Amino acid sequence: MTDYKYLAELAQEARKKSYSPYSHFCVGAALLCKNGKIYTGCNIENAAYTPTNCAERTAIFKAVSEGEREFEAMAIVGGKAEEKGGFCAPCGVCRQVIAEFCGDDFKIILGNEEEFGVHTLGSLLPFSFTKKDL
Ligand code: THU
Repeated sequence: MTDYKYLAELAQEARKKSYSPYSHFCVGAALLCKNGKIYTGCNIENAAYTPTNCAERTAIFKAVSEGEREFEAMAIVGGKAEEKGGFCAPCGVCRQVIAEFCGDDFKIILGNEEEFGVHTLGSLLPFSFTKKDL
């Protein structure tokens, strides 16, 4: 049984590294690979705004660049800097990036380590356009 609470704790910890001087909205993510390894990420903003990278993509890009391709679950924790991290739904771009590597059954844990819900990529990104369509 996957320890989603632990994954949410790691996302909360990763959120502390958030570089978000413009939005002051801090997000952390923890990505569990099928081999048991975990990669974390935070959002990284930029003065030009558009180069900003979300926490989820930071975690996925870290993992893929280390050779990982098979993923089981991701926990996401977000919120205003002065508040404790909590529920934060992944943006559309991140859902699409997750769909590049993960199937409909990939688990997405939303909330913090005290209270979270377990969702699936299929429920958050129905009718997805992926490599199966090309
Ligand atoms: N953000 C994430 O990192 N992940 C999400 O799922 C939603 C938004 C970041 C991007 C930006 O740095 C800040 O939160 C406000 O949008």
